[in-house]
Amino acid sequence: MKRSVKLNRDIMSLKESATLAVNLAAKKLRKDGEDVYHFGFGQSPFPVHPKIQIALANNAHQKDYLPTRGLPELCSSISKYYKTLFDYNLPEDLIAIGPGSKELIFQILYILEGPVIVPAPSWVSYGPQLQIRGKEIVPIVTSRDKKYKLQANELKQCCENIQDDQKILILNNPSNPTGALYTDQEIKDLSQVCREENIIIISDEIYAQVNFSNRDYVGFHKYYPEGTMITAGLSKSHAAGGYRLGFISLPKGMEDVMKCLSAMISETFSAVSAPIQYAALETYCGDYDLIRYVDRCTKIHGAASLYLHYRFIKMGLNCPKPEGAFYLFPDFNNFSDKLKAKGLSDGVKLSQFLIDEYHVALLPGEDFYYPADYYGCRIASVDYDGDYVYQQSLINLFEGKADVDLDHKFIEKNCPNLKKGCDQIEKFLNDL
Ligand SMILES: Cc1ncc(COP(=O)(O)O)c(C=O)c1O
Repeated sequence: MKRSVKLNRDIMSLKESATLAVNLAAKKLRKDGEDVYHFGFGQSPFPVHPKIQIALANNAHQKDYLPTRGLPELCSSISKYYKTLFDYNLPEDLIAIGPGSKELIFQILYILEGPVIVPAPSWVSYGPQLQIRGKEIVPIVTSRDKKYKLQANELKQCCENIQDDQKILILNNPSNPTGALYTDQEIKDLSQVCREENIIIISDEIYAQVNFSNRDYVGFHKYYPEGTMITAGLSKSHAAGGYRLGFISLPKGMEDVMKCLSAMISETFSAVSAPIQYAALETYCGDYDLIRYVDRCTKIHGAASLYLHYRFIKMGLNCPKPEGAFYLFPDFNNFSDKLKAKGLSDGVKLSQFLIDEYHVALLPGEDFYYPADYYGCRIASVDYDGDYVYQQSLINLFEGKADVDLDHKFIEKNCPNLKKGCDQIEKFLNDL
């Protein structure tokens, strides 16, 4: 007999996202032996570097609970690493280690009062995390002309409608879902508004090292250190999402916030797994091989993303050129009349149709807080065998020749699903 159990209403109303539905459909097709072109799932395809794997194995005996905020040596290494990487000055006693940055974003959102502003489109989890807290995001719909990057005047305007003294902005740079990378000037202008409007920034920098533009990465820490919290970790740059290791860094002056966060951590997950923290020490020690590895993987991410961008533009989609992370946000608006005539009245229907009929998995913009009637969608550029592609990218070096040109030909040859997925989308457009 089914038992009626009373549940927390905020949790019950969390809806199953279209992301999950598309991923499930893709999984089922693959299980049935069908080919699927999986642009839906955003996981780095590369192996964890052997040095990190060895560090993990060598620390399997570490069995003691670690301090709540994490291994002191790890906090110190992270601070030094980011000094070298981006010239950040992160106080090591204001860094906390968590089981992925996602959990830390959740906990800090739980602690902070005030409305939470996010640019739309933004990462799928910010909204549900806030919903668990009984709040809703305040989305600012950005425009394709500005590569879906939040502009200072848009933020200022949004603040005019908010009475609360303290506000929060979560911004992911480079962006999941668009691959956009903010410029120095954009960060500077946004920082100025944040200072004027008493906005605390949660700067989600999980993809900061996956930067394939020709510009240096610029974070809010440069222009607004006193109001910027930074979250990052091993998942994306070091392809170790399953290790579940992330950190949050709070600015000087927020010691009370850290006290609160430490209390939350100690009453929830206690501390991150000890072997993983010791393995992470290897990552943040500044080892040259690891830095080179991240650089090469980033180059491949860039080549894959730029290939997809080239194909999308060629087939008539609109799509800002990505500069980081491993995502693109093309839209099918040029085909909206034909899509409507086919009964595909929004992005959710479009993505369902594409997976059912063409075996292409992509995610509708609505899941990223973008208006439902816009035919924008998120494409992840990682449906390839990362180990194999990495080796292929080095092959000339092994043979003492010039480095491999990671051009469109390289991607078509070594990442066949990216090509075939584009061919399928093109076929769909031709069939309309
Ligand atoms: C934008 C963004 N932020 C944060 C995360 C969380 O990463 P993790 O919890 O693995 O550190 C992800 C992972 O998909 C992400 O895409």
